[in-house]
Amino acid sequence: FIISSNNMLKKAQQQHYAVPAFNIHNLETMQVIVETVAELQSPVILAGTPGTYSYAGTENIVAIASALAEKYNVPLALHLDHHEDFNDINDKIHAGVRSVMIDGSHETFNENIAIVKRVVDYAHRYDVSVEAELGRLGGIEDDLVVDSKDALYTNPKQAAEFVEKTGIDSLAIAIGTAHGLYKSEPKLDFERLSQIRSVVDIPLVLHGASGIPDKDVRECIKRGICKVNVATELKIAFSDALKHYFIANPDANDPRHYMKPAKAAMKDVVKKIIDTCGCAGKL
Ligand code: 13P
Ligand code: ZN
Ligand code: NA
Repeated sequence: FIISSNNMLKKAQQQHYAVPAFNIHNLETMQVIVETVAELQSPVILAGTPGTYSYAGTENIVAIASALAEKYNVPLALHLDHHEDFNDINDKIHAGVRSVMIDGSHETFNENIAIVKRVVDYAHRYDVSVEAELGRLGGIEDDLVVDSKDALYTNPKQAAEFVEKTGIDSLAIAIGTAHGLYKSEPKLDFERLSQIRSVVDIPLVLHGASGIPDKDVRECIKRGICKVNVATELKIAFSDALKHYFIANPDANDPRHYMKPAKAAMKDVVKKIIDTCGCAGKL
């Protein structure tokens, strides 16, 4: 069954762990994640960018997620990651998605509020949870490229006002992470996170977790992060294993064989993140 992120994240907030949001791309990545969370009895959010939904087909993703949820008997929050278009979001809600991120973070503060509020008013009629972002992450997510000089940390005061005026269910913040990997180890602004936490009582979301040392992610969770987004580390594990397989087996052509090591490598990363999030057994 496909559920919203609300109860998952509230429980995580109360019990001081985080729910991982893993970016999915196809059947295999969805299989690996659901199989692993079932084994570890972990809550999970399956996240897809607009590019992923159009690549794989929204109806296919919803159907696969529903089938896997039933097969493994785990509730799945199927999530729209970094969506920007109101009509697109509505269409996907009607296709069965119950968890949404409306990303207006590149707009002005007031525009961001207006865009997000419109989605919240609509989504809440269908019990769909809504995440929004204040501040801007650096790095690359699909075709969204933000130069690090354009990245802006979240202002705690504005965060409180933003949450109050939009009625969102969770807030993504910018404290020094970026999408993708890092050229040098990022310095996270933990103090800012704590300040935001002290004035915002809804679950907080950390984007760009790939490349952040485990200890820093754990520190973020200690200070109030309830959802940890991971994309790049999964993609690298999967594709590196594929490359190695084809180098070792240049004549291979059977997906049932060459996908195996890729799925196994990705599974190790999923397990590692679940360990970092402290969410095993929290289903
Ligand atoms: P990474 O690719 O850095 O893991 O970021 C993922 C993300 O924030 C998805 O929304
Ligand atoms: Zn993100
Ligand atoms: Na990252």
